[in-house]
Amino acid sequence: MAKILGVGIATLDIINTVERFPEEDEEIRAIAQTRTRGGNVTNTLVVLSQLGHRVTWAGTLAQDENSHLIRDDLEYYSVDISPVQTIPLGQTPTSYVTLNQQNGSRTIVHYRDLDEYSFESFKQINLTDFDWLHFEGRNVDQTRLMLDYARQKAPDIPRSVEIEKTRPDIGELCGLAELLLYSRSYVQGETGAAESSVSPGNDSNPMAFLENRIHQAPAADHVCTWGEDGAYGISRSGSKTHVPAVKPAQVIDTLGAGDTFMAGLIYGKLAGMDFTDALKTACALAGQKCGQQGFDGLTR
Ligand code: ADP
Ligand code: FRU
Repeated sequence: MAKILGVGIATLDIINTVERFPEEDEEIRAIAQTRTRGGNVTNTLVVLSQLGHRVTWAGTLAQDENSHLIRDDLEYYSVDISPVQTIPLGQTPTSYVTLNQQNGSRTIVHYRDLDEYSFESFKQINLTDFDWLHFEGRNVDQTRLMLDYARQKAPDIPRSVEIEKTRPDIGELCGLAELLLYSRSYVQGETGAAESSVSPGNDSNPMAFLENRIHQAPAADHVCTWGEDGAYGISRSGSKTHVPAVKPAQVIDTLGAGDTFMAGLIYGKLAGMDFTDALKTACALAGQKCGQQGFDGLTR
């Protein structure tokens, strides 16, 4: 059992399951609706908790009704929230998710007006209590300060960053961590490939991107997820890997597949697995998640 600190967001996810994805300006009925806690880092932490680790969340909460749902869910998964910063202004960040029953795809409209976790709050945390520090790649200026501070104060504790979206200067975080996870949409945005068809099995775009990144940050392992095509990686020792996805009998819910993959990767690294085995573990866990709704019961 290791102690893991995660810095990032928690959200209210309002998930409408639909029989098929609607056309623009169409009106259709949802066949089910759930209101649940979401957010990349907290999703990753609830999976790691179920895998037997002790997890702590550093993030912000609003003071509204919906923040209770987040607190209750994190308590259910034994997530320690003592470093949390409560923000008097603003409301719980909310994602409106359309979950397509036909293929498990999730389309997200996210609204937020809540301040992000600050470097000042982060400095209050005793980092030497932890075995692993994980960061969501957002709020770049403050996250850069946190990563730099962690590198100085606790140089032996590994740092990972999940880079999901293109944001100004976000690439600068790569040189400050030992494990980087990039999303497919980020890679496509960076390589201008969003509009081109990257067929399953064609590894040229993700590998070319990763080769470029390892030149910029050679002391880190670099991984990108590629949906139903699995994941690609280049380790700091230079080994290149493509691991196929592990397909569930039926794809039910891909919301948080990348966050679950991140949990699997951290789990594998903490267990001392080599790079390829850690990627295989992450793909297996993410595939299992895609075959069920939500994160409950992901214990491998
Ligand atoms: P995100 O949630 O960030 O959009 P991806 O869609 O790239 O992330 O998925 C993350 C991981 O989840 C993939 O690397 C893969 O291992 C797994 N995964 C995603 N979609 C599927 C699928 N349809 N079948 C099996 N595994 C999947
Ligand atoms: C899934 C997720 C959702 C959340 C959204 C925030 O990866 O974390 O739970 O609403 O992304 O961007």
